[in-house]
Amino acid sequence: MIIEPRMRGFICLTAHPDGCAQSVKNQIAYVKSKGAIDGPKKVLVIGASTGFGLASRITSAFGSDAATIGVFFEKEPAEGKTATPGWYNSAAFENEAHNAGLYAKSINGDAFSNEVKQETIDLIKADLGQVDLVIYSLASPVRMHPVTGVLHRSVLKPIGSTFTNKTVDFHTGNVSQVTIEPANEEDIKNTVVVMGGEDWAMWMEALNKAGVLAQGATTIAYSYIGPEVTEAVYRKGTIGRAKDHLEATAFEITDSLKSIGCKAYVSVNKALVTQASSAIPVIPLYISLLYKTMKAEGIHEGCIEQIQRLFGERLYTGNAIPTDDKGRIRIDDWEMREDIQNQIKALWETATTENLNEIGDLAGYKQDFLNLFGFGFDGVDYDANTNEMVPIPSIK
Ligand code: NAI
Ligand code: NA
Repeated sequence: MIIEPRMRGFICLTAHPDGCAQSVKNQIAYVKSKGAIDGPKKVLVIGASTGFGLASRITSAFGSDAATIGVFFEKEPAEGKTATPGWYNSAAFENEAHNAGLYAKSINGDAFSNEVKQETIDLIKADLGQVDLVIYSLASPVRMHPVTGVLHRSVLKPIGSTFTNKTVDFHTGNVSQVTIEPANEEDIKNTVVVMGGEDWAMWMEALNKAGVLAQGATTIAYSYIGPEVTEAVYRKGTIGRAKDHLEATAFEITDSLKSIGCKAYVSVNKALVTQASSAIPVIPLYISLLYKTMKAEGIHEGCIEQIQRLFGERLYTGNAIPTDDKGRIRIDDWEMREDIQNQIKALWETATTENLNEIGDLAGYKQDFLNLFGFGFDGVDYDANTNEMVPIPSIK
């Protein structure tokens, strides 16, 4: 079939298999261009199919020749209906890894469930014995709690008072005011259950109990801080409470896995266009100003540049892992540079529908958004008939 983007609000209903494969190839080429990293050898990536998790899997495999197991929750294709992008990304990743002689297998299912944890443990036992790195990179709006059976939903709301600020509809470029009512206690609790650290801790406990964590293994989860303009809706909002919980969980995991010397870290990453971040009000306007400013300074990065730098310049340098005063790894250092943030603050004040194309990188935002679904890549023939029924080699 000929596959075109079909936009519905903040999502695209279609994905292009060849474009997703091109995206994976581009990321592999980037990692290879930066040279080998003396990094992990056997890696489990939870949330491995898109965004930072996919970049972590690619960096492990093509930066350090690591064997990888990827866990994700994606929709497979059906005749005449495309799969989700993460499905095609993972198919392309496995093919590239296998061609390079690297072990790569995947598990498609709900990572919050006991069943998927057990399936993962069984696969590690059968094929790898143990893993020395576990990346935890889930982003989900819902979590079915494996003990209570309750389905929790996260929300993106401020806490304490109503929040009003500028936002942009990145499809139209229309800048407007948005007002968001504050969360109630139930909202806060639910968001922490979904996006906090409980499931990460459950994974690490299950892996350790099964004996599949190597002595001195490392585990990393991803967090975000960001600037003052997004604080009310992000870091001081419901999602921020979940990130506080995630960050606190790192210390608990390190403590509970002392006997095998496993260390848990949170890495604070840069704001990037993903399906998740596009749905948060205010953030797309911030990102469009951020992209413009960082590109002008020559320090713009996408997921792959961020994770390659995380591995190469933070995690696997041969020296102690540098952290901030709260024990977090900071790879958002360039985003948070004072000169960058001062420029964005000034731009924020003046941003309107009329000037955003000029002062912000709306085109870059749109391009990245299309790229998430495999559209807009050079070297892909979008007019050609494409087979949507692409299998992931290790699945079924
Ligand atoms: P993403 O949406 O690109 O990736 C999410 C991954 O989780 C996908 O592989 C998806 O299949 C998987 N997933 C979701 N629900 C699942 C489930 N129930 N079972 C198994 N897999 C499931 O998200 P992104 O942006 O890469 O986020 C990853 C982490 O990075 C999150 O913790 C996010 O908060 C954090 N982060 C994101 C930033 C951004 O600007 N996008 C900035 C800093 C941190
Ligand atoms: Na991810």
